[in-house]
Amino acid sequence: MKFNNKYQVLGSKVKFGKNVRIGDNTIIYDNTIIGNDTIIANDCVIGEPSSDYYYNENYTNKTTQIGDNCLIRSHAIIYNGNSIGNNLSTGHRIMLRENNNIGNNCKIGNYTELHGHVRIGNYSNLHSSVCIVENANIGNFVWIAPGTILTNDITPPSNNRKSPIVDDYTFIAVNCVILPGVRIGKHCLIGASTLVTKDVEDYSVCLGTPGKFIKDIRDIEIKNIKHYPWPNNFEQGMPWEGIGYENWIKTQNND
Ligand SMILES: CC(C)(COP(=O)(O)OP(=O)(O)OC[C@H]1O[C@@H](n2cnc3c(N)ncnc32)[C@H](O)[C@@H]1OP(=O)(O)O)[C@@H](O)C(=O)NCCC(=O)NCCS
Repeated sequence: MKFNNKYQVLGSKVKFGKNVRIGDNTIIYDNTIIGNDTIIANDCVIGEPSSDYYYNENYTNKTTQIGDNCLIRSHAIIYNGNSIGNNLSTGHRIMLRENNNIGNNCKIGNYTELHGHVRIGNYSNLHSSVCIVENANIGNFVWIAPGTILTNDITPPSNNRKSPIVDDYTFIAVNCVILPGVRIGKHCLIGASTLVTKDVEDYSVCLGTPGKFIKDIRDIEIKNIKHYPWPNNFEQGMPWEGIGYENWIKTQNND
């Protein structure tokens, strides 16, 4: 892939790793650190300053860290203060407000927004048009399908806020709304268009408005084979690809 190296604005205090490629019309603000082999495509803004920058002459941008081997597609806006691990792959027009902490090997789809101070573990996959409120906590290997929204204002408009938690291996289907402060446990499946109003226990399938427990996810079969926990039956792009989840998890526990 080739960029034309035209109309880039790169701050003097930006640190570039080896073999970083930057697209046309991209702006990178000071105090951004970009890891080796990362690609930032056309028309992106990286390290976007907070509002104070526009009014305070002594403003200093917080460090924005982007790991190795990331692919950030065009029109992404990433504010200062983000910490992003290795191998992030994004769609177009993502928007990350300040101070999110994103692990390794994550994916973030087109138009998805993180509202700041969001924590995301490793290998989590947020699809298109997902909206994650400030301070939400998303675990490892979590999937969030298009159109899902996590909320945090209990009595809007107010500062009475509590952000949701989504634990490891959970899949949230399309167009769900997760109400403030809800904890969704490990290995859950939240059905399409569910309104999650209460905590969801580990291994639950939760459906409807309001969301109700309908069954234990471990009872779901496809052609007489138990499909969940899904890592036993799905390995594309996962660290257990080719060796199986059971073998992989043993290597993790030995660490
Ligand atoms: C969770 C899911 C798999 C459950 O579907 P299912 O296996 O058909 O569920 P069941 O057969 O156990 O259905 C139990 C009952 O709940 C209903 N139901 C199924 N999904 C529902 C949903 N999302 N919301 C409300 N009710 C639902 C069924 O009609 C059925 O009702 P009935 O007993 O009156 O006939 C499905 O709702 C879902 O969300 N699939 C994922 C779609 C998606 O977003 N994929 C990712 C992006 S492509």
